[in-house]
Amino acid sequence: MNAPSCNPSPDDAGWIRICRIEDIPPLGARRVARAQGLDVAVFRTADDRIFALLDRCPHRGGPLSQGIVFDQRVACPLHNWTIGLSDGKAAAPDEGCTPTFQVRVTDGEIWLRADELAHHAVDLTRPIAGPARCAPTVSAPNGPASLVGAG
Ligand code: FES
Repeated sequence: MNAPSCNPSPDDAGWIRICRIEDIPPLGARRVARAQGLDVAVFRTADDRIFALLDRCPHRGGPLSQGIVFDQRVACPLHNWTIGLSDGKAAAPDEGCTPTFQVRVTDGEIWLRADELAHHAVDLTRPIAGPARCAPTVSAPNGPASLVGAG
């Protein structure tokens, strides 16, 4: 496989080249880091269709880029919710939606919108997994210290 190559400068129409289709394995995903906000997960289906979603499950924030792609869906690796790649919606009976991103494929190259990478859904964070955290304060022999419980 060729090493992915990215061009951070948008073209005249505001699209940023991400990589080539073959840089993403069939039924796989690649994460695109952003200056702000969570990564974007770019998925490739068995028939080489490309979709992009925020890398955040609408259930509890699982990394969809690490899920199992089938048909035009991805199964979240944490609790197996199924998310539609074209609309970001959770399959019933589950409810919720993860933001989608526009994708352009030209001559085997995958492009995302520069404005969406910069601004779309940057306010969404990933919930903290695991049990609730506590922050007890303890006194150490050499003075006070703050201890954050394992979580
Ligand atoms: S976090 Fe994705 S199914 Fe629970």
